[in-house]
Amino acid sequence: MKDKQFNFPPNFYWGAATSAHQVEGGNNNDWSEWEKKNADRLVLAAQNGIWPDYILKNYPSPLQKENYISGAACDHYNRYEKDFDLARSLGHNCHRFSIEWSRVEPQEGIFDEKELAHYREVILALRERGLEPFLTIYHWTQPFWFRDKGAWLNAEAPRDFARLAERLVREFSGTGLKFWMTINEPMIYSTNGYLRDIWPPQKKNIFAYWQVINNLISAHILAYGIIKKIQPGAIVGIAKNNIYFSAQGAKLINNFIKFLADWWWNFRFLDKISGHIDFIGLNHYFHNRIDYGFNKNENKKISDMGWELFPEALYYVILDLKKYKCPIYITENGLADAMDSRREWFVVESLKNVAAAIDDGADVRGYFYWSLLDNFEWDKGFWPRFGLVEIDYRTQERRIRPSAAAYAKICKNNFMLL
Ligand code: BGC
Repeated sequence: MKDKQFNFPPNFYWGAATSAHQVEGGNNNDWSEWEKKNADRLVLAAQNGIWPDYILKNYPSPLQKENYISGAACDHYNRYEKDFDLARSLGHNCHRFSIEWSRVEPQEGIFDEKELAHYREVILALRERGLEPFLTIYHWTQPFWFRDKGAWLNAEAPRDFARLAERLVREFSGTGLKFWMTINEPMIYSTNGYLRDIWPPQKKNIFAYWQVINNLISAHILAYGIIKKIQPGAIVGIAKNNIYFSAQGAKLINNFIKFLADWWWNFRFLDKISGHIDFIGLNHYFHNRIDYGFNKNENKKISDMGWELFPEALYYVILDLKKYKCPIYITENGLADAMDSRREWFVVESLKNVAAAIDDGADVRGYFYWSLLDNFEWDKGFWPRFGLVEIDYRTQERRIRPSAAAYAKICKNNFMLL
């Protein structure tokens, strides 16, 4: 039987994503401080981990302190032009990145002209290469002054964030930058930092959790208004991590748990900001099978981090967003795979599910693989290898992985065989 060819919509955006703290190197913010304080503890905790041999052979490994300290990271702050050349050579026509708040506003209300100029250069470097920039304002790291005021628990936080957005939009509106993303994954950020006690500021307090989420909602809405006022042509969205909760069987209890989980995790934030978004950036990684409890996954295939690889989930999370009636960009989707043994399969299967969702009426306009480069995976450090491009952290050498070439073919063709 002949394969069917699926044509993606014309002008579809194909690319990859990064975030400032994970790739830049040389950052000095709440996270970099936390890393130094927690590295020894994280090494100790990792000793109970069950690591495949190949992970332990990589540098840095989960058992080395260097693994947990972002340090020079990928030195992308200095090497961005070469990295964007690589993205271009891989057939990408867009790129998602974030600015580092602690660089551009190191003291409250005082902006650093040199750093603003740096990001202007970054935007222009993307545009020169035909890579449409998607700029994320906040990808989790904060300047010390913001942290010391209580960060997102402080009632002033939305205004602080809006001031940052205002300055950035004034600064960059002349660059041709169109796509703005306010906040990366508010639910992941607030859950890990304020409910699960695993990321800074390591709280476990349901009231704080609630307040942080509500302040993030207000921050988005304020920033949306300001960006649109200054640059009416701007296209403003958010990056929202949505999970596919699948209820097993026709059991009432499983369906009820799914209903609550969908409401809380997937929809509530979007419901609150709908009317203040021009697109939804969907970040998707997780499937959660519900059978009298969460995470009853079969885990037939997993990533290096033990996360289930279940590409069908992408279809369902996309269709669930149709009700918001606005364009969808998949602004993150990917896996940690140091040996590059599952990445091509995962990307191809995920894209088949994007194709199926488009066929079923979803307005999907782009796909960004996470990530362009191997990078600093937060409290896990450097060992998870998400990159289309491998980084040798000893030499900063870049090597294109075979799966990146397979993805490049789809990007260049704008079609795939189903
Ligand atoms: C985040 C990234 C992270 C990726 C893989 C997303 O939740 O936005 O910063 O590296 O997932 O865990």
